Amino acid sequence: MSDTFDLDGWCTQHLQRVEQALDTWVSVDASSELAHAAPADLMLAMRYAVLDGGKRLRPLLALAAFEAVGGGLELHNNAALRAACAVELIHAYSLVHDDMPCMDNDVLRRGKPTVHVQFGSASALLAGDALQALAFELLTPDDDAVPAKRQASLCRLLARAAGCAGMAGGQAIDLASVGQPLTEDQLRQMHQLKTGALLQASVMMGAACGDPTARAKQALQAYGAAIGLAFQVVDDILDVTADSATLGKTAGKDQAQDKPTYVSLMGLERAHAYAQTLYQQALAALASSDLADTRALQGLASLMVQRSS
Ligand code: IPE
Ligand code: IPE
Ligand code: MG
Ligand code: MG
Ligand code: MG
Repeated sequence: MSDTFDLDGWCTQHLQRVEQALDTWVSVDASSELAHAAPADLMLAMRYAVLDGGKRLRPLLALAAFEAVGGGLELHNNAALRAACAVELIHAYSLVHDDMPCMDNDVLRRGKPTVHVQFGSASALLAGDALQALAFELLTPDDDAVPAKRQASLCRLLARAAGCAGMAGGQAIDLASVGQPLTEDQLRQMHQLKTGALLQASVMMGAACGDPTARAKQALQAYGAAIGLAFQVVDDILDVTADSATLGKTAGKDQAQDKPTYVSLMGLERAHAYAQTLYQQALAALASSDLADTRALQGLASLMVQRSS
């Protein structure tokens, strides 16, 4: 193993696989594996929501975790690539609904008009619903590509992270908390659910495509929890410090909508420091593991905390 790790090269290579797989799987192309007979307009809205944008951090985390547990080289059509894309579909659906007028009422996402602005609210609602269903379809191929027991574990991990005790639950708390001064514990709980759960699930789903030891699993849980929370702390910071063009979404929304955030709770400086503390916790968790090579996971943690968009 060489000492230097080319994170940019690693990301480029893996992003290419993810983009290609998403383009194939979110498709009406009759020759594609899923061969959907979906109404063209609905599929258009789904593709608009998923393709041409997004940092793809969740798929990268899944693939990095898969490799860290000793996952093999052949990523195409296998469980890890399916898991990586499934989690991105849930994420894309969550963004479509998050932006709708009944939630954050945003007009810009990934540098484009939001899905409801482009296609109308009913189409945005349905595109989100359909992306969620497609995620689980991806995890359950009807050939022998992924053993049934592994399929079930992956579905369970994703369902829990997306549902009422995960993203959807966190979003409900977020909406109920407008104008409410939350305690640090309450804010942490909200962020862990709305954002942390899916990021942690990305890591655990990648790991579940291999055969991690109990110690590795525990370390990855702790890593995922730390970077999952750190990610939303940084999202709160960027909402204040970055501009809309850089973010590809409207800056300054949290304050305008009176949302409780880490910045409103502790101010910018302490929020930055807290993100750093969580980053160190993530690295410490990896260091405590028996995983042979965690350099991609370390690099992604750093990207998530250092990012400018
Ligand atoms: C934005 O997530 C929404 C949050 C959960 C904070 P990302 O910043 O990962 O969005 P994309 O996928 O890169 O657009
Ligand atoms: C959304 O959090 C988290 C999701 C589950 C989509 P935000 O509302 O802060 O995300 P952005 O800032 O709009 O991307
Ligand atoms: Mg929101
Ligand atoms: Mg939002
Ligand atoms: Mg935000």
